[in-house]
Amino acid sequence: MCGIVGYVGTRQAAPILLSALSRLEYRGYDSAGIAVRDGAELAEVVKATGKLANLSMKVDGGKALKGFCGIGHTRWATHGEPSTTNAHPHVSGNCLGSGCGPVESDVVGVHNGIIENYQELKEKLLKHDYRFYSNTDTEVVIKLIDYYYKKYKLGPIDAINRTLVRVRGTYALEVMFKDYPDEIYVARKDAPIIIGTSAGESFIASDVPAIINYTQSVYYIDNLELARICAGSVHFYDLNGDEVPKEPTKVELSPQAAEKEGFEHFMMKEIHEQPRVVKDTLHSAIKDGSIHIDIDDEFLKKLSRIYIVGCGSAYHAGVVGQYVIERLTDVPVRVELASEFRYRKMPLAKDSLVILVSQSGETADTLAALRAAKEKSLFTYAIVNVVGSSIAREADSVFYTMAGPEIAVATTKAYSAQLIALYLLAIKLGTVRGSITDPKELVDEMETIPEKIEAILKERDRIQWFAAKFAHIKDAFFIGRGIDYASCLEGSLKMKEISYVHSEAYAAGELKHGTISLIEDGTLVIGVNTQDELFEKTLSNLVEVGSRGAYLAAITENGRYSMEDSVNFTVYTPRINEIFSASLTVIPMQLLGYYFAVARGLDVDKPRNLAKSVTVE
Ligand code: M6R
Repeated sequence: MCGIVGYVGTRQAAPILLSALSRLEYRGYDSAGIAVRDGAELAEVVKATGKLANLSMKVDGGKALKGFCGIGHTRWATHGEPSTTNAHPHVSGNCLGSGCGPVESDVVGVHNGIIENYQELKEKLLKHDYRFYSNTDTEVVIKLIDYYYKKYKLGPIDAINRTLVRVRGTYALEVMFKDYPDEIYVARKDAPIIIGTSAGESFIASDVPAIINYTQSVYYIDNLELARICAGSVHFYDLNGDEVPKEPTKVELSPQAAEKEGFEHFMMKEIHEQPRVVKDTLHSAIKDGSIHIDIDDEFLKKLSRIYIVGCGSAYHAGVVGQYVIERLTDVPVRVELASEFRYRKMPLAKDSLVILVSQSGETADTLAALRAAKEKSLFTYAIVNVVGSSIAREADSVFYTMAGPEIAVATTKAYSAQLIALYLLAIKLGTVRGSITDPKELVDEMETIPEKIEAILKERDRIQWFAAKFAHIKDAFFIGRGIDYASCLEGSLKMKEISYVHSEAYAAGELKHGTISLIEDGTLVIGVNTQDELFEKTLSNLVEVGSRGAYLAAITENGRYSMEDSVNFTVYTPRINEIFSASLTVIPMQLLGYYFAVARGLDVDKPRNLAKSVTVE
């Protein structure tokens, strides 16, 4: 939620800030703003509502603003509606309207996160004659920094520290002080921020791809730490103001990873990256022919229960994982939405394994669930995509999915990589506990997934045709049983989040307990049907809704041609051991969601109201 950037160095800051923000727009895109400082001069603040392009136009691609030090923000509104006044940066003085121009303020800042007690802090500041121009929690925190800065006169680190002691909530905060024109100060709690340096220049961003064009040398700032950033150098401090030594990490990420590379949208590019991502994720854990997972075999042998926790698609991957683990091992699995798990007062067996699944590694609810599990002394295993993210760093053990940067808000390749991670864990667990005697056979079958995904991608024209024909519909239902049902959950989310078609995933056997009353002439019902034991049953459920007027589409396996006699449109996926079928059936559903959104003329990569990384509750 919200992306923040910063630059201090030898080049003009504004074009660099805009370029970095353009790679963070997936984090929020209802308004954007930058503040740039030219030596000792006042900071110049410019903001615009809507996408970043509006801001860029306003400042002529950055050329209209002069200065070597600056900060920027792209917003996903939490406190205060999207407007230029509520857009960041915020200042300690007054900044009403769209561009405040040169501001008189001593403190200017941007923020990603939520200040929970901002009302109480605002009241305190009102008593000290501060006046507020916006409805944001960020303006409050900037003014509080200004208050302590002037009250104690001990410098920026002291002022920020005193502020943070008073603040409840989450933040990645970037602040510039009028008296320190060539420096930027940052602070972090439960929201991501990284700092990169190269000769004579420093860059700040919410994530690595935003600055990868400029440097590969990156510092990870820890929770409850602060940093002072000058041109080409960084100093870190703890909450006492004592300096903390830190070494940079070289990030292995190519600048092209964050480009569209000829595809019209990031989502389509990422859909096509799946064969490679699946292969890389699989091979990252196979060494000398066996699966290497960083969990002690003795613990795997004795654990009595697994909890898989995540949000959105990560939760859906967990549901697939539940079916697969329970098929391959004797361990019962519960899948929990992180937002429920964290507040649930339930007994948790001491010898449980808690698996946190997250692409970003920053999702607030999943992070809180991880901490809740750790508080109960449970072993936590994170399946995470973003290296160095909070969940990856705090979990007892981490498995990195090898999806690379995922820019489209709707996840595709990260979900596919999460499935692989969960299959590997299931096979490892089954092997250690003796329920699997030939793990190689299963791993060999997994090796076929990439080429089978390639084959499905070649069928995309048919799916595009189908989507164009049905783009006008209002409702869709995805039905299936077992692993197919788990796969439907993800297919349905893909459809609704980017094409805005209302869609629901249902366990096929559950439809007739209420939802079937919604079926009328022309309602689109998509049935996923790949599981041997359940095939006839799901087919019957499809026929039932078909006889009530539904238009039927099916996703099934090559060879199951009897589907064609019963449904109106069929997509075939290559044959695979049915345990891994979700890795194939999800592909046509991703394409379906994509082509529906394109046919409806929507912004595929940045669907309304959403942000890629949900760092607020
Ligand atoms: O970064 P995470 O995997 O923790 O994110 C979880 C969800 O917010 C995410 O999967 C979301 O549902 C996506 N929009 C799905 O496409």
